[in-house]
Amino acid sequence: MGLVSSTPLLQDARKNGYGIVAFNVHTLEMLQAVVEAAEETRSPLILQTTVGTVKHLGLDYLVANAKVAAEKASVPIALHLDHCTDFDLLVQCLRAGYTSVMIDASMHPFEENVQRTKRVVEIAKALNVNVEAELGKVGGVEDDIVVDEADALLADPDECKQFVELTGVATLAPAIGTAHGIYKGEPNIDFKRIEEIAKRVQVPLVLHGGSGIPGEQVRRCVSLGMAKMNVATELKNAFSESMKQSFRDNPGELDPRKYMVPAKEVVKQLAKQKMELCGCVGKA
Ligand code: 13P
Repeated sequence: MGLVSSTPLLQDARKNGYGIVAFNVHTLEMLQAVVEAAEETRSPLILQTTVGTVKHLGLDYLVANAKVAAEKASVPIALHLDHCTDFDLLVQCLRAGYTSVMIDASMHPFEENVQRTKRVVEIAKALNVNVEAELGKVGGVEDDIVVDEADALLADPDECKQFVELTGVATLAPAIGTAHGIYKGEPNIDFKRIEEIAKRVQVPLVLHGGSGIPGEQVRRCVSLGMAKMNVATELKNAFSESMKQSFRDNPGELDPRKYMVPAKEVVKQLAKQKMELCGCVGKA
């Protein structure tokens, strides 16, 4: 069916109280693993890449792989660009075939965040592409974007309403206490804040920092309106740990297929667990 916009998928998720998982993939095997997980569980899927991965794999290679996956799959698949601060690169991704993009101008003051986001929304609208933007500041490390915990800032519910109205953004990622990377303790999620934001904002909300959030808390976030959950670190770590284990078991192994196959399987099983948790199994 080809790559689809994430907008209708996420609107359905918000309306019906489930969440779609957006997995950050870094290699062909990781991409195939999450696609297989989606097919086997009949889940809608958002393939997600950071700017770093676009640079690492090459935009043309990446989009070509995602397009083939979407054409072959019998479940809807969107291709999303995560946390992009570079307008020119974002437009290149749109032209190459991304069906969903995040413009991250959350490091700027509110007015400037509005202006930068609005500019992307106008272009994306003509292409039927979803736009996500962030309000507040999600802490932790995501690719080259590092936000110290002391600088992390939670989103203000009234500002969220204003922001969506002013920008026309289709999805909103409000900072509500989660962080990118693995949590040292439990995440300190402000559920009341999610509730207040969801009351004021009808667009699907996005939960960043999905790695390591306890299951019960994920379910609560989803039930309150978080229709997309981003998972990066857990997937990347599982893939690499599996390969490390393969090398410990077989130090002399030189055939990449021998350590890539189990690593792919581990990613696939983890992806299925996250889909189950968010309630998107069977929703494709
Ligand atoms: P994690 O690395 O914590 O899973 O966060 C992913 C994310 O939010 C990407 O934008």
